[in-house]
Amino acid sequence: MKTDPFVIKKYPKWHPIRLAFTARARLIEQEARWNFPKYALAEKIIPNLPPAPDADYSNTAVTPVQMQHLLYALSATEHLTDTVVVEVGSYRGVTTQVLARATARKVIAVDPYIGYGGSDEDYRLFQSNTAGLLNLIHERVSSGEAVRTWKHEPVSLVFIDALHDYVNTGFDIEAWSSLMVDGGILAMHDTDQKSFAGTRKAVFDACHNAKQFAHPNNLTLIYLEKSN
Ligand SMILES: C[S@@+](CC[C@H](N)C(=O)[O-])C[C@H]1O[C@@H](n2cnc3c(N)ncnc32)[C@H](O)[C@@H]1O
Repeated sequence: MKTDPFVIKKYPKWHPIRLAFTARARLIEQEARWNFPKYALAEKIIPNLPPAPDADYSNTAVTPVQMQHLLYALSATEHLTDTVVVEVGSYRGVTTQVLARATARKVIAVDPYIGYGGSDEDYRLFQSNTAGLLNLIHERVSSGEAVRTWKHEPVSLVFIDALHDYVNTGFDIEAWSSLMVDGGILAMHDTDQKSFAGTRKAVFDACHNAKQFAHPNNLTLIYLEKSN
């Protein structure tokens, strides 16, 4: 299993383990930026999808087209019974709300709200956007902590949208894949933006041989195939 970057953060900044991890992470980001075009995966837009749902798009970076593809992935995994849907990084709860309204499966939102893109105010908005959704469970822990302490059913759809660099995205892909059922779908956000070059490289490294489900700009969705 790859190292959980949030475990490394528990070391003081001067600690050799943390210094070495950070130095390696920076080098990888640099290389990912230099070779940004090399790590592109083919685009695959699904035609004739139902219209994008009404949502507060001013409080999420997920676009209407991306939301349409996420909902398509949700419907394509409905037959995987006794499974749950996960959003890693739920922020203000806009996508969380759309997903939870569109399925009877449990939706597990994983977000610690301890900085790193998620503030107390974001948490307040998350709570108001998801109030009354009976199939929603919030795990207020980091991605790695949620995987290590998992007590829910296996996962059929995971939307990875937390920290957008190589070490975090790479860790999230590997960690959440371990909880997924065969034929589940892994969706990863912000895969085509040079400012998040490490995320694109992490997705390329983990998924370039995988069967693609869809790939509108900045959202890559792949099938998770488990070998027996
Ligand atoms: C880009 S936002 C998520 C946007 C959301 N998915 C949406 O569709 O609007 C990133 C979120 O990831 C959270 N985050 C950062 N590190 C995390 C980690 N290790 N595990 C889980 N969530 C994390 C932040 O608190 C922040 O709320």
